[in-house]
Amino acid sequence: MSEPIKLAAFCGSLRQGSFNRMALHAFIERLPAGVTVSTIEIGDWPLYDADIQAKGFPDKVQAAQKTMLEADGVVLVSPEYNYGISGVLKNAIDWLSRMTPQPFAAKPTALFGASGGVLGTARAQYQLRQTLVFLDGRPVNKPEVMIGQAQNRFADGKLTDEATGKLLADLGAALLLAVRQSRAAAGVK
Ligand code: FNR
Repeated sequence: MSEPIKLAAFCGSLRQGSFNRMALHAFIERLPAGVTVSTIEIGDWPLYDADIQAKGFPDKVQAAQKTMLEADGVVLVSPEYNYGISGVLKNAIDWLSRMTPQPFAAKPTALFGASGGVLGTARAQYQLRQTLVFLDGRPVNKPEVMIGQAQNRFADGKLTDEATGKLLADLGAALLLAVRQSRAAAGVK
């Protein structure tokens, strides 16, 4: 029996009724039984400040690092704000990036997002992939899941668009494959 797979997830939108949060739920629902996901809430973290860091990382940042280090993979979901990822998610990444061990390093990572526009966060996702280079993350390349015109794909808090559901399921499968490959390379079952 192989070890159960654990994932750590972040959502870059804080609003109630967030399409990105609904998309994260739809992604989690489509994972196989036995995979557990800890969603790390980042809305009340302080803005990154090296002077705060010098006095000690905030408790929530330390707890998030621990959750990530115990996880086999990471899930990043963000809206697109002005062609970039949300400030909320960038702030969380900036905090975590200063920690030792740096918890994004070598972690298989799935990313996706939903927006009102037709490009479905494409520009923000490429910005996030660039950030993951510095973090030495292992972003899953495909499928890219860019959920455009989100207002037409969700209703009553749930994903209603089957094609998007299939893409999310495929991305979940690709992430789990990357986790298994990374475990095999490390000699872990
Ligand atoms: C947006 N929106 C947006 N959409 C897009 O496709 N590209 C963009 O660059 C932006 N920029 C942007 C900036 C700001 C400050 C806001 C508040 C919104 C629209 C955005 O896609 C839409 O509000 C989504 O519904 C946000 O995601 P959640 O909150 O539904 O998860």
